[in-house]
Amino acid sequence: MRIDVNALPAAAQYKLICSTVIPRPIALVTSWSEQGGDNAAPFSYFNAMGEDPPILVLGIELRRDGQELKDTGINIRDTGQFVVNLVDEPMAEAMNVCAIDFPLGVSEIEQAGLHLQPSECVRPGRIAESPVSFECELMHWLHVSPRRYMAVAKVAMMHVRDGLYDPQTGYIDHSKYKPLGRYFGRLYTKEHELFEMVVPSLQDWAAADK
Ligand SMILES: Cc1cc2nc3c(=O)[nH]c(=O)nc-3n(C[C@H](O)[C@H](O)[C@H](O)COP(=O)(O)O)c2cc1C
Repeated sequence: MRIDVNALPAAAQYKLICSTVIPRPIALVTSWSEQGGDNAAPFSYFNAMGEDPPILVLGIELRRDGQELKDTGINIRDTGQFVVNLVDEPMAEAMNVCAIDFPLGVSEIEQAGLHLQPSECVRPGRIAESPVSFECELMHWLHVSPRRYMAVAKVAMMHVRDGLYDPQTGYIDHSKYKPLGRYFGRLYTKEHELFEMVVPSLQDWAAADK
């Protein structure tokens, strides 16, 4: 089947893209503004894009009910700072509460039973319960389509829960980390079946009995 995705309405394009590019990691983004104080909201249009410096990217859309940007977008655009707090399995429900559109003055962080800790390099705090937090400084604020913005940021500081980082391998221990993945709509995934695969050299690949 061939799908001319650009000919479809925006909502249908969204459904196709977000149900094919799966699973996606979830960033519980904390940001801050002078007027609104601390803010937290989940974003699964999120990924890592490079190192030296470490680069993270977020996709932020306008509010459903109007032409306004979401608070996270306004705060990132205006302050140039945010924190990406990764979400693990035990944090799933708290993350979901942070997506509720609470009235002004109600803290989603408090309602979700989460706690903020001061960051080192940026004004927005980080979520104490999160296994991994990245303090971020905005590099590029992009208006990529009428309803979409993109924040490209570099990581100024990283915080990792004790016991997750393996200095021998340089990797995070995924079996202790237990990140939550986003499918689409109401669907999420936990880590289930992992397998190993090594890229062979051209010689080994050509010599292998195929
Ligand atoms: C798992 C999950 C992932 C989400 N990902 C995004 C996203 O990538 N981009 C986006 O604009 N909104 C996303 N949302 C919706 C926002 O979290 C939601 O609109 C939130 O209320 C925005 O809050 P704010 O106005 O405080 O920024 C997601 C919601 C959930 C539950």
